[in-house]
Amino acid sequence: MFGSKTQALQQRALKVAPLGVNSNFRYWGDGITPYVDKAKGGYLWDVDGKKYIDYRMAFGPIILGHAHDEVDQKVIEEIQRGVLFAMTGELEIEVVEMIVEMSPAVEMVRFACSGTEATMHAIRVARAYTGRDIILKFEGNYHGMHDHALWSTYAPADAYGNRRSPIPVPASSGIPKTMREFIITLPFNDFEGFERVMRSYGEQIAAVITEPCQGNCAAINPQDGFLQLIRKKTEEYGCVFILDEVKTGFRIANGGAQEYYGIKPDLATFAKSLGNGYPIAAFGGKREIMSIIGHGVAQGGTYTNNKPGVAGAYATLSLLKSKPILKTIEKRGQRLMDGLKDIFEENDIPAVFTGYPAMFSFSLGVESVTCQRDWQESDRDLYLHLVEKAIEKGVMPDHDAREPWFLCYEHSDADIDETLNVYAEIVKDVKR
Ligand SMILES: Cc1ncc(COP(=O)(O)O)c(C=O)c1O
Repeated sequence: MFGSKTQALQQRALKVAPLGVNSNFRYWGDGITPYVDKAKGGYLWDVDGKKYIDYRMAFGPIILGHAHDEVDQKVIEEIQRGVLFAMTGELEIEVVEMIVEMSPAVEMVRFACSGTEATMHAIRVARAYTGRDIILKFEGNYHGMHDHALWSTYAPADAYGNRRSPIPVPASSGIPKTMREFIITLPFNDFEGFERVMRSYGEQIAAVITEPCQGNCAAINPQDGFLQLIRKKTEEYGCVFILDEVKTGFRIANGGAQEYYGIKPDLATFAKSLGNGYPIAAFGGKREIMSIIGHGVAQGGTYTNNKPGVAGAYATLSLLKSKPILKTIEKRGQRLMDGLKDIFEENDIPAVFTGYPAMFSFSLGVESVTCQRDWQESDRDLYLHLVEKAIEKGVMPDHDAREPWFLCYEHSDADIDETLNVYAEIVKDVKR
C-alpha cells in the first residue's frame, strides 16, 4: 500500500519504539503502517510524497483543516510570549468562558491535556461527589487509556458473555484485577439491561459514562430515548451522568451532542476538535459538582493550560462561533454519505450508515447495527479491502473499521466528488 521510504522508516522505527509508533492505534501491521510527512487542509502526504484526501483527521481533532493559517497564527503569536507559567492567564479564562457559553450543560470547566485525562478527572470528581466507587460503561465505548474505563472497548462478542450479564473485559494486561470490582459493562442501546442494572446496583454506582454515539465503534447512534433514559435513571439513583464528548464536542454541533440531542449530563468531557489538533482537553458541568474540586478533591497538571493548546482552542472556538463552519461540514458530509449509500445500493451490498455527516461510518452486509455485538457481525473483511483499495487511490479513511470517517471545513466539494469516484470504482470492482 505504501512506498519504499515508508517501509524503510518503519524498519528504523521498529528498532527504537514498540511497534515503531508512539500509540498502538497507529500501527496497522508490518509493511502496511503509514508514516506521514505533512498535512494541509483536507490532505496529507506520506513520507514517499504520496498525497491523500484525509478522512482520519488525526482521529477527529482536525475540524477546520490541517495547518490552519488563522489558528497557527494565533498560536505563534502567543507562544512567543511564553508557553508555560504555572499561573493562570486571561486567554485561558476566555476559552473557559467560550466553552461555558457554547455547551448547554456546562457551568464550570477545568482543563486537561488529553481526553484520557479529562475522563479520568471526571470519574474522580463523580466518585468524590457521590461517595461511591462503581462506574457503568458501555461495550465498544472508549474513554481513554486509564485503568478506570479501559474495559470492554473491543473484544470478540463471545468474551463479552451473555447480554443479560455481560463480562467486563480488560483491554490491556497490566490493569489491576481488583479494578474489576468497580466496573459494570452493558451493550450500548440496551434499554432493558440498563434499567435492570440500575434497579440492582443504582445506589452503588458513582457514574454512568457514555459516548453520545459510539465514536469508537462505527459511530453507532443512540436509539431514540436511550440518552434520555440514562439521564432519567441516573437522576433517580443519584449517580453522575458523564457524557464523553471527546469526539462529538465542537464537531456535530457547536454545543456538541448535548445541544444536538437536547440532553443535560452532569459532567461532560471534551478534547479533539476543541483545539484543532493542539493539545488541550477539558471537563465541566454542573456548578454544584465541579465546585467540590479544590475542596478535598484533587485535579491539576503541569501542562493543563499549555499555551499552544489554549491559543489553539481560543482560535478554533472563535472561528466556530463566528462562521457557519459546522453547517458547511454537515452539508458536504451529508453529500458524501448519500453518495456512498447510493454506490452500495447500486451494487446490492447492504450497508448501514451511522453517525453524523461530520463523523460517520458504515457497516457492510448487515441490516441494522445498534451495539458493538451487532457490528461484529458485519463484513469487516470487505470494509477493510475497500479501505486498502481506496488508500492506493489516494483516499484515506482509517484502516480500522471501528474508526469513523471525519470531515473538516477544508474538505471541498471536489474532494467529495473524487472520493465518490474512487469508491464507485472500487466497489464495482469488488462486485465483479
Ligand atoms: C470518546 C473518547 N474519549 C476519550 C478518548 C481519549 O482521548 P485521548 O486520546 O486524547 O487521551 C478518546 C480518544 O479517541 C475518545 O474517542
